[in-house]
Amino acid sequence: RQDRLNGDLEPAGGLFHNAADTDPSLLANRVWGGRILARVPSSDLGVDTIEQALVTDAAALESLIASTVVAGAAWGSRSAADRAGFVRRAGYALEANRDRLIEVMASETGKTIDQADPEVSEAIDFAHYYATTAVELDAVDGATFVPSKLTVVTPPWNFPVAIPAGSVLAALAAGSAVIIKPAPQAKRSAAVMVEALWESGIPRDVLVLVDVDEGDLGRSLMSDPRVDRLILTGAYDTAALFRSWRPDLPLLAETSGKNAIVVTPSADLDLAVADIVKSAFGHAGQKCSAASLVILVGSVAQSQRFSRQLVDAVRSLRVGYPDDPSVQMGPLIEPAAGKLGEALTSLGVGERWLIEPRQLDDTGRLWSPGVREGVLPGTPFHLTEYFGPVLGIMHAPTLEKAIELQNAVPYGLTAGIHSLDAAEIHRWLAEVDAGNAYINRGITGAIVRRQPFGGWKKSSVGAGAKAGGPNYLVHLGSWLNDPGAP
Ligand code: ALA
Repeated sequence: RQDRLNGDLEPAGGLFHNAADTDPSLLANRVWGGRILARVPSSDLGVDTIEQALVTDAAALESLIASTVVAGAAWGSRSAADRAGFVRRAGYALEANRDRLIEVMASETGKTIDQADPEVSEAIDFAHYYATTAVELDAVDGATFVPSKLTVVTPPWNFPVAIPAGSVLAALAAGSAVIIKPAPQAKRSAAVMVEALWESGIPRDVLVLVDVDEGDLGRSLMSDPRVDRLILTGAYDTAALFRSWRPDLPLLAETSGKNAIVVTPSADLDLAVADIVKSAFGHAGQKCSAASLVILVGSVAQSQRFSRQLVDAVRSLRVGYPDDPSVQMGPLIEPAAGKLGEALTSLGVGERWLIEPRQLDDTGRLWSPGVREGVLPGTPFHLTEYFGPVLGIMHAPTLEKAIELQNAVPYGLTAGIHSLDAAEIHRWLAEVDAGNAYINRGITGAIVRRQPFGGWKKSSVGAGAKAGGPNYLVHLGSWLNDPGAP
């Protein structure tokens, strides 16, 4: 393991395989300069569906929107129990397609198997949860829930199955027709998920997959007056752009984050290290929920013990491509560039590397994890979201100061504290500005229903409803007061 990070670097997986023993439909050699660098899962899952979903002209888009609105009217007039049945069966279909979904996520986005597998579980949880919620909404006395007619879903590439599945199934459960436009980097993953939903019985004209470019046609879709809800998961700037296109369109947008975990002197340091490593480097840090900062309080900052433990744990991570199931940190979605490229290769004033990230192959996508200390308040590393495998350490003399640093960022998505002192925990909970505040736990991997997921400040735009929580469906329609009700 140490060799992988410090020696003559090669990505984990593949180098020692003999291409002849492998099933070519599952694995492909990643070759560079005539040399096999690694073997990665490769498949054509979803390709046909994506080809069929391509829309390249305005007239075709117009007719698709028109037919979806017509089909949606019939869907919306079904009973809530009936729709819930479809959505539940969609959950069973996702389970039946678990292997295909893992395979397409790994081959298309580089997601490691240990991350892709629970992602399928999350998608299934969304199905059962929203099915239950839709029936509960219908049972509210004295008011009638009127669903939106047409919801557009624009999911992200980093959770290419769970987030599109959750968004689509919420809208369908509420009674809306859905047009889903997949993220350009993860089209096939969305397509395989949609195929599973169609197979489960959800009508193809009620759940429509549309692949349009993000220029004029994308704008036409999102600006169309027949669209009455937009569910977006992505960068804050994208949500702001979509909102500027059509300010009157109700939007449920879960956006960016810059998330910190505070460690106080009372913490169980072993637990804190394990949770921080998982939160910072799971999916190579490419989660809106990921830990990007650790704020060490008082004596934890003064003593070297915590930093040493953290460094050891980070160095032990196995980095590679997802064809190797033991890999703990996979590649970036694209070669590191821009802000992330800078964060991986340069330091701010007063900072130093505890572990310097290194590029592990010529794809530009595979990096070893980085940890920097000495991050100062108000600097770029304190305030900017990077979406990659680099963690910064800050110091605070008191818990009060640590909370101030945690709250100083423009976002408020996830936050964590490791402390075994009840007074500290209560104080932190009362003061921290984050939609998901976790105590003595990692800060990624919110569980549907138990930890509804969504942020504050620039981490959400629009309704601010939390995915996997009791209010989400309410925002996908409106209430009609029923004067005849008791
Ligand atoms: N819902 C995802 C998580 O909690 C983003 O990590």
